[in-house]
Amino acid sequence: MARVFVSRTLPGRAVAMLEEAGHTAEVWPGELPPPREVLSDALADADAAIVLLTDRIDASLLERAAKLRVVANVAVGYDNIDVDAAAARGVWVTNTPGVLHETTADFTFALLLAAARRVTVSERAARAGGWKTWSPTAFLGPDVHGAVLGIVGLGQIGTAVARRARGFAMRTLYTSRTRKPALEEELGVEWRRLDDLLSESDFVSLHVPLTSETRGLIGAEQLRRMKPGAILVNTARGPVVDHRALVEALREGHLGGAALDVTDPEPLPLDHPLWAFENVVITPHIASASERTRARMAEMAAENVIAVLAGREPPNPVAGPRASPKRT
Ligand code: NAP
Ligand code: GLV
Repeated sequence: MARVFVSRTLPGRAVAMLEEAGHTAEVWPGELPPPREVLSDALADADAAIVLLTDRIDASLLERAAKLRVVANVAVGYDNIDVDAAAARGVWVTNTPGVLHETTADFTFALLLAAARRVTVSERAARAGGWKTWSPTAFLGPDVHGAVLGIVGLGQIGTAVARRARGFAMRTLYTSRTRKPALEEELGVEWRRLDDLLSESDFVSLHVPLTSETRGLIGAEQLRRMKPGAILVNTARGPVVDHRALVEALREGHLGGAALDVTDPEPLPLDHPLWAFENVVITPHIASASERTRARMAEMAAENVIAVLAGREPPNPVAGPRASPKRT
């Protein structure tokens, strides 16, 4: 019987699946992530772990985890895990691709629309008694339909966002490491270098993973290149955007606004200057948070663990004993 550490209460059948496969699941009961020493002790004693993007799994934690065979992340992004250190120790790392991109793309559009059409700020004002009459000048924003959308990272989520953009009659530009001729043909998306995408887009939506290449990808220079009044949407990872530079660009009035599901750090401290902007929408990293998708993500993590503990390759490997780390 294997011991599986699960770092938070999960939705769906994930824990039941582990138990049905004959394993013992030890679920951290807290609402907040397990403190580092708890995580370290738990991993030291576990054959497998299901962790969240809030758990940092680094080399020093893995060093103590002599029995550990798999770390299954309940997320598609895995920048919280030192994948090379895990692979070097023969530990599988898995993620949850293919089940959350549509849900995350839905939310990306929710954020884009909220920022453009001032949904959250006008709702807050109405609740506070600020709705006195129909006003021809209040809460004006840019149209979404017919605008130019720039997608940075045309992977699973970026592509799902591009599909939605067609329904809004948007012209869609994209940048990615590799060009995607099939998607250009199918969706009518146009490839641009990042700088050109920034200067041509009314909305810029980020969908790259957080890596050493993408950390700070959107800094002061890139923000300056954006069209005056353009809106930045980030549902990727907070550190892809230099937050100091973003605050500056908003202070200068160069940007029309920002919509951020991810920030640096998370949670964003309540005294952070970004909270003060009326044209900024901030949500607490919930783009994949539909009931069905979150349950499916947790169940995928369980499937990955069950496969490894049964001596099989996991269905969603990022890296492992027999795989070279996936290109991110
Ligand atoms: P994906 O399918 O792997 O797509 C990532 C895309 O980024 C790929 O098209 C890749 O290009 C491109 N890319 C990677 N490095 C790049 C670089 N240096 N410059 C330009 N493009 C680059 O991943 P996904 O499933 O769409 O997810 C993307 C990210 O979204 C995840 O890693 C995660 O951090 C984040 N996410 C956030 C939430 C949320 O709740 N807010 C939910 C899910 C995911 P190539 O195709 O050329 O390789
Ligand atoms: C969420 O942020 C994920 O990477 O799945």
